[in-house]
Amino acid sequence: MNNKLTKTIVLNIFLLLTIFNVYAQNGHELWLRNKSSVPVNIVCAKNSPTLIIAKQELQQGWQGQPDASVKLSITKNKAIKADGFRLTQNGIEATTDIGILYGVYELLRRQQTAEPVNEEVDNPSYERRILDHWDNLNGTIERGYAGHSIFWRKNDPFTVTDHDKTLWQQYARANASIGINGSVLDNVNASPLILNADYLARAKAIANVLRPYGVRVYLSVNFASPSTLGGLKTADPLDPAVIAWWKNKVKEIYSMIPDFGGFLVKASSEGQPGPQNYGRTHADGANMLADALKPYGGIVMWRAFVYTANDNDRAKQAYSEFMPLDGKFRDNVIIQVKNGPVDFQPREPFSPLFGAMKKTSVMPEFQITQEYLGHAVYLVFLSTMWEECLQSDTYQEGVGSTVARCTDGSIYPQKHTAIAGVANIGLDTNWCGHDFAQANWYAFGRLAWNDNLRSEQIADEWIKQTFYPAALEKTGSPLYSSDWRVNFLVPVKKMMMESREAAVNFMMPLGFHHIMSANGHYGPGPWWGPKNVRPDWTPPYYHQADTNGVGFNRTKTGSDAVSQYHEPLTSMFNDPATCPYIYLLWFHHLPWDYKMPVRQGGQSGRTLWEEICYHYDKGVKQVREFQKIWDKAQPYVDSTRFLEVQRKLREQCMNAILWKDACLLYFQQFSRMPIPYDIERPINNLDDIIANEFKHKND
Ligand code: GCU
Repeated sequence: MNNKLTKTIVLNIFLLLTIFNVYAQNGHELWLRNKSSVPVNIVCAKNSPTLIIAKQELQQGWQGQPDASVKLSITKNKAIKADGFRLTQNGIEATTDIGILYGVYELLRRQQTAEPVNEEVDNPSYERRILDHWDNLNGTIERGYAGHSIFWRKNDPFTVTDHDKTLWQQYARANASIGINGSVLDNVNASPLILNADYLARAKAIANVLRPYGVRVYLSVNFASPSTLGGLKTADPLDPAVIAWWKNKVKEIYSMIPDFGGFLVKASSEGQPGPQNYGRTHADGANMLADALKPYGGIVMWRAFVYTANDNDRAKQAYSEFMPLDGKFRDNVIIQVKNGPVDFQPREPFSPLFGAMKKTSVMPEFQITQEYLGHAVYLVFLSTMWEECLQSDTYQEGVGSTVARCTDGSIYPQKHTAIAGVANIGLDTNWCGHDFAQANWYAFGRLAWNDNLRSEQIADEWIKQTFYPAALEKTGSPLYSSDWRVNFLVPVKKMMMESREAAVNFMMPLGFHHIMSANGHYGPGPWWGPKNVRPDWTPPYYHQADTNGVGFNRTKTGSDAVSQYHEPLTSMFNDPATCPYIYLLWFHHLPWDYKMPVRQGGQSGRTLWEEICYHYDKGVKQVREFQKIWDKAQPYVDSTRFLEVQRKLREQCMNAILWKDACLLYFQQFSRMPIPYDIERPINNLDDIIANEFKHKND
């Protein structure tokens, strides 16, 4: 081949690659797509691995005045907390290096989203903002829908490759950019092996990569480890040998990971061992671990996700078990409470433990991975769900005692404050399985930083950072042109803001809960109730449908779960006339022809059955609308992400129809009333749906 021809081929390949690069967006860059060549001068007297990152980020992403001078200063200012910062007209002030890095990300975000810089101090709401990875040591992920673990693997499990390190660094950077400062590396259903030297060495390697980004490592531990791993006769938390075993283990961990964050513990829950196996309380167990961690500044996150098979209402159990222990925990124990009293359902009222435990630190746990919300198939922006929980008023210390304020230290003098999200991250190129699921990782971080942020702002920021750079490459239009705003930003934001309510509508409206399929918790399954399965794991336990009516009676005439809430909530929830629609069947068993109260926004004259039907129908229509919104947005999206999201919306729509058909036909057997005639007829037969339930692919 002559030289000229070779050159032409090389040039053509280069051009092709460039074009491919412009349009093939694989999602790996998340919201961190900003690359700028605007020069900036950085003035910083100190140096450290974290500050080096801060400077690099500014250099790579600066979009302010060309050649501006930006001063990064570590100052003494009591108003600025350890992770906080203050943006000034010409720089960033913080009391720590990590505060500077957070300030850099905030400044760049403001430039990129065209928001003004205000000069107020910006401190995080929670001291610890943590991702819980439900990653197993063999690399699989419990309830993970984005591939295998980024931390653990089955083959060659202990070699740390350059690829591992690059991935962990990218992960840490993404976390730091939204303020997340902790990662629990392994599943709450913990293997004792995590405390083996080999696994600890890998945890150390991970911690070394995460450290400059301010992300500390935590581990889930198995309460029985002293016996299963350590060979002791017992794991009784009051046994001196057990206490000594944990002390030594903790010492070993800190010798490897000096800034280790602490333990997360799922104990005496869903078959996991715990102090109750030895006749001890949750406080005995948590305090023993807390004492071992205390000298090093570590904490224990002790989960309140407990329920036994024989109680009459699963929703009541965490409160019943933990309230008597209020005030009995060490100050480095935080009780980790799921947002609702059952289990991450599409909608639950907030857990009554929030605000009620006044002498114990309590932290919210959200689920970012979409176990009950359509896995990596549905487009569901979870920020609105978490905002709903954080802004719920518990009334525990008067009006305005929101879940956020009861957990972030505003109301109670907690020694430590924290918030956790069950991660949706895996080895998939786009990290989360669905391009829009990245918004949930983003939203969790932003809310953990500021529990008063509104979802609309979060969606706005995320869309601008995630989709605008590609739109710019494709259309060349100027920064946030009105064309892009009107045709992309506004409709896509609207779709995100409605997406969770749409999912509730077509899955579990009006307070329905836990009526999903047992097949991986994807799709409908209100009929599922085999005789050999614990009733509280089956949908009929929760919906209680019969010919007289439907819903779980948690009023004073039923399980009395309403009494676990503070007034005026107890009375409000107790009466169907005042109970919010969204929780109606959570708290009430009502006849099918119950007339929906008009004052809560119901259509006059509608029966409960009709209202159920219209909600399912509305959910399907909303998803159909999302499809139109997305199709219209095509000119502004790179083709890879456009097609992928389009395909997933189609699948979501089919599943929404399945939910609607399944639930309406199943409940109609009891209501014996017609589906209102202006609603589209089912296109699936109930017996077929049931027969195929376990044949559907579930992720
Ligand atoms: C749910 C989930 C389990 C998980 C559990 C928990 O029940 O289905 O996979 O282990 O929550 O939060 O501990």
